[in-house]
Amino acid sequence: MSSASVNTRVNTADGGAHVTHRPLGILAALPQELGDLIEAMRGESGVRTITHGQRDYHLGTVHGAPCVVTLARVGKVAAAATVSALIHEFDVEAVVFTGVAGGVATEVRVGDIVVANALLQHDLDATPLFPRFEVPLLGMSRFAADAALAAQLAAACERFVAEEGAASAARFGTREPRVHRGLIISGDQFVASAVAVKALRDVLPDALAVEMEGAAIAQVCHEYGVPCAIVRTISDTADDHAPQSFVSFLTEIAGTYSNAILRRFLEARRAG
Ligand code: ADE
Repeated sequence: MSSASVNTRVNTADGGAHVTHRPLGILAALPQELGDLIEAMRGESGVRTITHGQRDYHLGTVHGAPCVVTLARVGKVAAAATVSALIHEFDVEAVVFTGVAGGVATEVRVGDIVVANALLQHDLDATPLFPRFEVPLLGMSRFAADAALAAQLAAACERFVAEEGAASAARFGTREPRVHRGLIISGDQFVASAVAVKALRDVLPDALAVEMEGAAIAQVCHEYGVPCAIVRTISDTADDHAPQSFVSFLTEIAGTYSNAILRRFLEARRAG
């Protein structure tokens, strides 16, 4: 374990110490996707920031939960490097990724929320040597999110929708959010055409949403046996309108959703 650990150590009667809480790693690609999480940490416990590999890792307590919060930046390599540091330098017990995604399935609309059951790299193709999408030598194309963590995250999303969904929809001019569970696909492309999103739908008919980090996080977590869960709010439908829709959703809405979901998720973790 590194010196950057934020584990809580409790002194016992015999003078020993044991670890009670390893921190949760929370990350997003872009600052807008994290909402006010670091500010909330500053107000609650204060923040210790450690810079490692050109990323700032913020250590403290948020909504009662010891956390390490950071920004991965964009793409699968950035995400893999960041989650690897969370695991090795900060000894996180689990990882939660929050952010936005493009809707792929026709029933997944802007303002909806998708919690991954599984993740796949849609741009990974070592055919004919290996089946399309399969990670060579690992023999896997789909990486499962941790079932319990994903269920807790989805429950937090459902509570958000029940308590604030109608008000959010009215405020942001979106439809009342729906929560979906299923496959999220990741690749090093921003998908922004009707042709491209249809091609993804055709080849991966159960894909709900597309983004650029989640499957890399899920693969690294799988390889190190660390539970992970991914939640994405739909900013666009990965078609020709995606760039404008993405930018306005990111700047105006993403943080509000993230705050609302993570607060409920972390408070329930503390209570549970
Ligand atoms: N994240 C949000 N929208 C996306 C899109 N259309 N493609 C890839 N990543 C995204």
